[in-house]
Order: sequence, then structure tokens, then C-alpha cells
Amino acid sequence: MKRALITGITGQDGSYLADLLLAKGYEVHGIVRRASTSNTERLGDERADAVYDGTATDNLHLHHGDLNDGLALSRIVADVRPDEVYNLAAMSHVQVSFDMPEYTASTNGGGTVRLLEAIRAAKLDCRFYQASTSEMFGRTPPPQHEDSTFHPRSPYGTSKVFAHWCTINYREAYDLFAVSGILFNHESPRRGENFVTRKISRAVARIKVGLQDELALGNLDAVRDWGYAPEYVEGMWLMLQHEEPTDFVLATGTGTTVREFVETAFDHAGLDWRDHVRVDERFQRPAEVHALIGDASKAHRVLGWKAQTHAGDLARIMVDADVALLEGT
Ligand code: NAP
Ligand code: GDD
Repeated sequence: MKRALITGITGQDGSYLADLLLAKGYEVHGIVRRASTSNTERLGDERADAVYDGTATDNLHLHHGDLNDGLALSRIVADVRPDEVYNLAAMSHVQVSFDMPEYTASTNGGGTVRLLEAIRAAKLDCRFYQASTSEMFGRTPPPQHEDSTFHPRSPYGTSKVFAHWCTINYREAYDLFAVSGILFNHESPRRGENFVTRKISRAVARIKVGLQDELALGNLDAVRDWGYAPEYVEGMWLMLQHEEPTDFVLATGTGTTVREFVETAFDHAGLDWRDHVRVDERFQRPAEVHALIGDASKAHRVLGWKAQTHAGDLARIMVDADVALLEGT
């Protein structure tokens, strides 16, 4: 039985990856940071409580830790001795990173080094996945691929470029099977509520049932390549099963503006977005990434991976899920 360690297991991707690996028969260990309220909702609070109580019936194990706590990371890595490590934990919100640049650098950049060092100190022969991002391309025009120039536009983007190069450095310096997955935006009903797609789908559902009338957004002209998160965690796993450690872009290859996503989401609920959306300066960023559209042909050719769900379907999936959530179904 293979053993995997996931940082960021309570996040969107971590929770889908845990589901995927458990279904494949893995023993799954996750690092959870201590919070004063529950942060295990995406894993299922009851299921997480059962893990903590020792009454769990599946192969999920949770450990308290933090990417800013190198000693805890070293202890967990040495105790678990995983075959595969997926480093998904991050301060992942681009706009928030402008408010917290030092924390973002420490968590996303320093945290990756702490984890890589923990693996090296434990002399582990494991495979390592780093959650890199299309935000690293920043100002470089689309289509962006594995060899495109990095020009990050936020503290988040710069921290991820550092972590990306650390991953490559540990591969070259210590022969670690370390892979960087450069993933374009991927969303789902489990997406955090302050990312634009979920903010929109949630608002549409609330407007439809009369709980809200207005939605304030920032830049409606930004172009993103939005895919469906469960498909992307499958891609992460495929990268670690490949015989060679090499980096991959995962993307749909289709660009959609925020305005188009808004229009599709409101249309799906029978609403006219022009009656409800207003632009608010508060959601504009000091430096914007205007257009991200990925070229994932390497992942298709080498791993057989191809995105199936594009932005229109994604908007409808997310609106339906938020409506169902409000209706309690
Ligand atoms: P997410 O939903 O924001 O999840 C982030 C996870 O990191 C959560 O489990 C969070 O814990 C954890 N975390 C945050 N700070 C931490 C710390 N100091 N120590 C330990 N854990 C910490 O993000 P996601 O969308 O699943 O993305 C997963 C990874 O892929 C991130 O690294 C992100 O930057 C990267 N990425 C995401 C996308 C995308 O479109 N989703 C695209 C490219 C790359 P809490 O639950 O306690 O907050
Ligand atoms: N969050 C947010 N809120 N974004 C808005 C809003 C708003 O009210 N209005 C417009 N936008 C625009 C942003 O300016 C950006 O151009 C776009 O919508 C997408 O914003 P987010 O959903 O916050 O995602 P992101 O692209 O900045 O970052 C996400 O994708 C990256 C991969 O490219 C995050 O998941 C990152 O962690 C990830 O690396």
C-alpha cells in the first residue's frame, strides 16, 4: 500500500486529492493547521473528528502542523515516511498576498524549502509534487507553456517562482524525484468563497432566492483559463507516476473573461447580470495579471491528461451546487 502525505489537505485541491488517493487504496496523511473553528469542512467534519477520535474506518490520518513550523514538518515527515508528498498548502489568494507579503513569502516560499529539507534530512526516497501556478507567468502573454518566461505580478506569484525553482534545484542537486505542476485556475463547488468564480456562483444563488441583490466585483476584463479541480488533482497524481521527474502545465487551453463567466452564471439562473453587478475599486489589484491561457499539450502527449470541463460548464456546475446548498438539498 502506498503512503501519501498532503500539505493543504483541508483546501479545495487537497480534499479532492485525498478522495482520489483513498479511492486508489493509498494510506493518506494530511497536515492540518490548528484553527479556533473547524477547517475540515471539505474533508467532512465528522470524518475528520473520527480520525482525531481514533474511530475512523478509512485510511485517512491527520497531523497538526504548519508550513511555517520546520520542526513539526520534519517530525511528521520522519514519522510518516511517505512514498509521495504533495505540497499543496499555501497562502493562495493573490489579492490578499499584497496585504501579507512577508507571510506569503514565508509560507509559500520558505514552507516549500522547510518541507524539502525535512525530506532530505529523513533520507527519504519519495516523490515530491509542488503546486506551482500560472500566476508565475504574470505579464508574459498567452499561450503560456512550460518554457514561457516568468514575470510574476504579486507577492503570491513571486513566492511561487521561488518555490518552483527550489523544487527544480532539489531535483538537480539531490536527485530527488521532484515535480512542479504549473496549474492554471481550477475551480469547483469546494472553491474558497473569495475567489472570483465562487464569489459569482454564490452571489447568483443568493440573488435567485432573494438573500442578496448586488454583486461587487473588480476587473471584469481579466482573462483566465478555468478548469475543473477534480480533473486537475488526477493530473497531479499522474505526474508522480511518470518515470521521469519533469514539470507540466495543466490547463484547458481556453480563455474566458470574468465578464463572460458572470454572464453565463447569471443566465443559467434566469437572471440578467447587468441588473445586479457593479464594479468596485476595492477588488482591483495593485498589479493585475491580464490574461492566462495555458498550453497543456505536453501533459496530453506524455501523461494522456486532457481537461474535459471548460468555463461554461464549470459556471453551471458551480451555480447548481450553490443553489442546492442554499436549498439544503
Ligand atoms: P486553498 O483552497 O486555498 O487551500 C490552501 C490550503 O493550504 C488549505 O488547506 C490551507 O489550510 C492550507 N494552508 C494555508 N496556509 C498554511 C500554512 N501556513 N501551513 C499549513 N497549511 C496552510 O487552495 P487550492 O485552490 O486548493 O490550491 C492548492 C495549491 O495549489 C495552493 O498551493 C495554490 O497556491 C496552488 N494553485 C492553485 C490553483 C487553483 O486555481 N486552485 C492554481 C494553481 C496553483 P486552511 O484550510 O486551514 O486554510
Ligand atoms: N478574487 C476576486 N474577487 N477576483 C476578482 C474580483 C473579485 O471581486 N473581480 C474581478 N476579479 C478578477 C481578478 O482581478 C483576477 O484577474 C481574476 O478575477 C481571478 O481572480 P481569483 O479568482 O482571485 O484568482 P487568481 O487568478 O487571482 O488566482 C487563482 O488562480 C491562480 C492560478 O492562476 C488562485 O487560485 C491562485 O492560488 C492560483 O495560483
